[in-house]
Amino acid sequence: MMGEALNRVPAHVGIIMDGNGRWAQARGLPRLAGHHAGTKNLRRVIRAAASAGIRHLTFYAFSTENWNRPDEEVSGLMSLLAQFIETETPELHKEGARLLHIGHLDRLEPKLRQKVESAIELTKNNTRIDVILAFNYGGRDEIVTAVREIVAAGIPAEEITQQTLSDHMFTAGIPDPDLIIRTSGELRTSNFLTWQSVYSEWAFPQVLWPDFDEAALAEILDDYAHRDRRFGGLNKK
Ligand code: IPE
Ligand code: IPE
Ligand code: MG
Repeated sequence: MMGEALNRVPAHVGIIMDGNGRWAQARGLPRLAGHHAGTKNLRRVIRAAASAGIRHLTFYAFSTENWNRPDEEVSGLMSLLAQFIETETPELHKEGARLLHIGHLDRLEPKLRQKVESAIELTKNNTRIDVILAFNYGGRDEIVTAVREIVAAGIPAEEITQQTLSDHMFTAGIPDPDLIIRTSGELRTSNFLTWQSVYSEWAFPQVLWPDFDEAALAEILDDYAHRDRRFGGLNKK
């Protein structure tokens, strides 16, 4: 009974926002129209998640592999990040959201990088919900980055623990995701939260990201609340 109550609402939810391209294609629109609709959808999902009591919400917005897309799609996605930061930050700030970023910002244009950094700075003391943007993020890249930091810090091999690695991830200080949702029916992780997701619960709704709404989230949260998370042990019944 107690275990059940404990995992009723996931503290940290990760979302792999997939299916924007197919959403646009189904309407005879260019792929960027799908990305635009997908970016607009962030707002309603953030609100619904905050109302549900989720404390950390990570969105996979651009992977280290997404650089392989055509130049105009990549630059469209960059513009959408800038637009999102500009239009949503004041409202997010008012509502008590802390904006964070995971991944490397250094490959982005300086102006975009500054926008992201100032939104992070503005919202840094907010405590209602963390909105974490995974942009130019890759799980393997994150692990390599952590190992480099650990080596550079001269930490002796015998002192390195799992906690040492966790502390050097971009997500240091944030609990591992309890639940990861990937929209659009694709059944893979695509390099998302590789280190952190070993005991995450997964949900793979068919719905394409721009159509993922409050009801779709509620359905997954309800399903999650009934799951038996054992972490390799045995739960008392
Ligand atoms: C997800 O939508 C957004 C990003 C990966 C940036 P996709 O662009 O991958 O959409 P599909 O998978 O082609 O439908
Ligand atoms: C994963 O989606 C990355 C994001 C949603 C940002 P992709 O559409 O890039 O993944 P693959 O290529 O289908 O694995
Ligand atoms: Mg995709």
